[in-house]
Amino acid sequence: MPDAPVDYSAPNIAAPGSNPTYDEVPYESHPFQQTHPSRLFTVATLFGLRPTPVTRCRVLELGCAAGGNLIPMADLLPDSEFVGVDLSARQIAHGQEYVRQLGLRNLVLKHASIVDIDAAYGQFDYIIAHGVFSWVPEHVREKILRICGTMLTANGVAYISYNTYPGWHMREMIRDMMRYHASRFNTPQLRTQQSRALLDFLANNTKQDGPYSVLLKQEVETLRHQADHYLYHEHLEEVNDPLYFHQFIDQARRHNLAYLGEARIGSMVTGNFGPDIEKTLKMLATDQIQVEQYMDFLRNRMFRETLLCSGRLVPNWSVQPETLRGLHVSSGARPLLPEGTTTLDIHSENNQMYVTPSNFQIGTNRPLLKAAMHLMQKIHPATIPFDTLRKQAREIVGGYDTLNARQQSEDTQLLALGLLNCYLTSDMIDLHGIPIPQSPPVSDRPVASHWARITAKENGNFTNRRHEVMRLNPLDRQLIPLLDGTHDHGFLVDSLTKDALADIIKVQRDGNPLTDPAEIRRALADSLPHALANLGRLGVLIG
Ligand SMILES: C[S@@+](CC[C@H](N)C(=O)[O-])C[C@H]1O[C@@H](n2cnc3c(N)ncnc32)[C@H](O)[C@@H]1O
Repeated sequence: MPDAPVDYSAPNIAAPGSNPTYDEVPYESHPFQQTHPSRLFTVATLFGLRPTPVTRCRVLELGCAAGGNLIPMADLLPDSEFVGVDLSARQIAHGQEYVRQLGLRNLVLKHASIVDIDAAYGQFDYIIAHGVFSWVPEHVREKILRICGTMLTANGVAYISYNTYPGWHMREMIRDMMRYHASRFNTPQLRTQQSRALLDFLANNTKQDGPYSVLLKQEVETLRHQADHYLYHEHLEEVNDPLYFHQFIDQARRHNLAYLGEARIGSMVTGNFGPDIEKTLKMLATDQIQVEQYMDFLRNRMFRETLLCSGRLVPNWSVQPETLRGLHVSSGARPLLPEGTTTLDIHSENNQMYVTPSNFQIGTNRPLLKAAMHLMQKIHPATIPFDTLRKQAREIVGGYDTLNARQQSEDTQLLALGLLNCYLTSDMIDLHGIPIPQSPPVSDRPVASHWARITAKENGNFTNRRHEVMRLNPLDRQLIPLLDGTHDHGFLVDSLTKDALADIIKVQRDGNPLTDPAEIRRALADSLPHALANLGRLGVLIG
C-alpha cells in the first residue's frame, strides 16, 4: 500500500489553468556551493581566464528566492556587492528581513521580474541563475541569456543550471503522469501528496523487473528523499522545458556567450569513463561541445550547471599547471598508517595511501606530494595558497635553499599535476578562489557569526566558509545561538543544563542517560570545551 492512498473519489475542483506561484509554496532557500563566486573563479582560472577576485566583485543572482544563497556570501565577503532578484514578493520580504537583522549593507534583494532588469543594475563579475532557466517561459530564458551577454564584465562568469536531455525524456513521462493526476486536487499539499502516492501505486503495480517498473521504482526512491516544495516546483509547475546541451550552447552563442565549463569540473573529464571510452569519445567529437554532448548521452544526463563567459574569450580546456598559482588549496584526506605507526614516512619513495572524506583511497610515492598532504592535513579546514604550499613542502623534503629556477618549475609541475589529478577525480583535494583562514582559538566568551546563530536556531544547520550547509546536532543547535560574545563558559553550561532538564537535549555519561541535575551539569561542563573546539574546526566561531 502506498503511504498516502490514491483517493479516486476526490472531486476535480482545481481551477482550470491555475499556475501555483512561489508565494503559495515558497522554495526553501539554500546555499549552493557550486554557485559560489569562489568556485566560478576557480573553474575560470583553471581554464586560463583572469576572473575578477572574489573578495572585491559584483554578483547578481536571478531567481534568488529568499536570498538563502546570497546572504552567507554577502556575510563572508563584505567588500563585494550582491544583488538578488525574484518575482515572489513573499520570498523577497522574507530575505529582506534577514538582511535587516544582519545589518548587511552589501546585499540588495529586489522584488522584480528578470524581464525588467535593465542597464541601471550595472555590470556584474558573476551572474548566477540556479534552478530558474528550465522553469520559466521562453521569453524569460532569452532574457536570462541577454542579461549574461550584456551585463557581464569582460572577464565575467555566468552560472546557469537547467534540466537537460536525454535524461529528462524519462523524467518527463513521470512528470506528465503526476501532473495529470495532481490537476484533480485543489491544494498544493494535496497535489504533492497525491503525486507521490500515484508514483508509489504505479511502481508497485507494473510488471515487475521490466524496464518501466525499474524506472518508476528509481524515481520513487529519488523523490522519497526530496522535500515537498522541491517536488511541487520541479514536477508540478506549468513550465519545465529541458533542452539538449548543444541546444543550450547554440542559444547562448546567439547572445555572444561562450562555453566555459561546468561548475562541477570533474564531470568534464573524459578519462573518468576509462581509456576505451575516452579514446572513442576523442574519435567521435571534434570539439569540447560535442565531447560534452556525447558524455550526456553516455550518462543519460538530466541536469547541468554550465558556466558561460564572453564570446570574445577562448578558454583553454587543457589545464596548465601554472594556473594553480592563483588558487588556494585544501585537503580533508588523512593518511592510512600501518598498525602501531603514528608518524608519516615523507622522505622515502614508499607508496603512502590516503583516505578521502568520502572514503576513496589514493596513494603517492612522491615525497613532495606527501609533504604537501601533511601540511594541508595539519591546517584543515583552512586553505593554503598553492605557491606557499610548494615552498613549504620543498622545505620539508629538503633542498629548498639551493633550489634553482628550473627545479622550482619542476616542483610546480609535479605538485600541480598531482593536486589537479586528485581534484578532478576525487574529493581528496579542494581548490578555492578565496583563502579560508584557520579558526581562532576558543575564547572565554565565544562568538559565532550572526548568520550561524540565526540558522542554527531556525533551521538546525549552518553554512560554513566553503558555502556548505552542515546539519547540527541537538547540543550545537542550542549552543550556537548563545555565542554572541557576551556569555562565558559557566553561563553556557547553565543554559545547556536547563535545556537538558527540559528534555530538549539528552545528556549521557558512558552511554547511560543522566537525570540528576548536578551530574548533568558536570557532564556538560566536561564536554563544552570539545563542543566549542569542534565548532571552531567547523568554522562556526569567528572569535
Ligand atoms: C525553483 S526556484 C529556485 C530558487 C533558487 N534559485 C534555488 O535554486 O533554490 C525558481 C525561482 O525563480 C523565481 N522566478 C520565476 N520567474 C521569475 C521571473 N520572471 N523573475 C524573477 N524571478 C522569477 C521564482 O519566484 C523562484 O523563487
